[in-house]
Amino acid sequence: MTEKLYEGKAKIVYPGPEAGTYRVYYKDDATAFNAQKRGTIAGKGAVNNRVSARLFRHLEAQGVPTHFLRELSEREMLVRQVEIVPLEVIVRNRTAGTFAKRYGVEEGRPLPRPLVEFSLKNDALGDPLIYDDAALALGLVGEAELARIRELALRVNEALKAFFLERGLELIDFKLEFGRLEGGEIVLADEISPDTMRLWEVGTGEKMDKDRFRRDLGGVEEAYQEVLRRVVGGAG
Ligand code: C5P
Repeated sequence: MTEKLYEGKAKIVYPGPEAGTYRVYYKDDATAFNAQKRGTIAGKGAVNNRVSARLFRHLEAQGVPTHFLRELSEREMLVRQVEIVPLEVIVRNRTAGTFAKRYGVEEGRPLPRPLVEFSLKNDALGDPLIYDDAALALGLVGEAELARIRELALRVNEALKAFFLERGLELIDFKLEFGRLEGGEIVLADEISPDTMRLWEVGTGEKMDKDRFRRDLGGVEEAYQEVLRRVVGGAG
């Protein structure tokens, strides 16, 4: 077994078989609320790898550059080596989660236009919300990079909203991470999966994502499998 470069809460990163690549392994481990809640979701690693791969391919086809190269196995993908920008980029279409809590509003209220929010990627600090000027002042990102990240995040939102709607799911919100290639180009990185998105069933509003785990709603594995089925199975 090759030595790992990094192990996070849901993934392990190994050196890739070719120069300039990483091999990403998706685990079944699940955490929530900054790892205060821990568990496993059987089969999650395979679902998240396959869903992410499908979505990265779709986004590439829509002109969004990503780190994705190809799937290596059920739980592993090959990606391009990037330097991760230490920001969590959250896009919201409806109020939910920490946004609803922070501003004291009910969940599910549609937002008049998609909202882009940044958090500092720092577990010890609990990923605090950060505003543009602070991210720039701390040298985490450049001004042109930040504009590009915002533009790409909104483009991803439009592409994924339509993709999921065709599959009977509404994209409520999601988290993205971006990275820099060696030449400095910003590309979409990390993963896009039911761990990092909120998906509500059109019609019933049923939650089909990690909120089932966070909120002990039951049917967690089933929801992940259903998302996989719809994502790889295509529309209808
Ligand atoms: O918790 P919050 O409401 O801010 O989450 C917004 C979206 O970002 C949700 O879809 C959630 O799954 C995702 N998220 C994530 N990783 C985090 C924080 C949020 O994937 N560390």
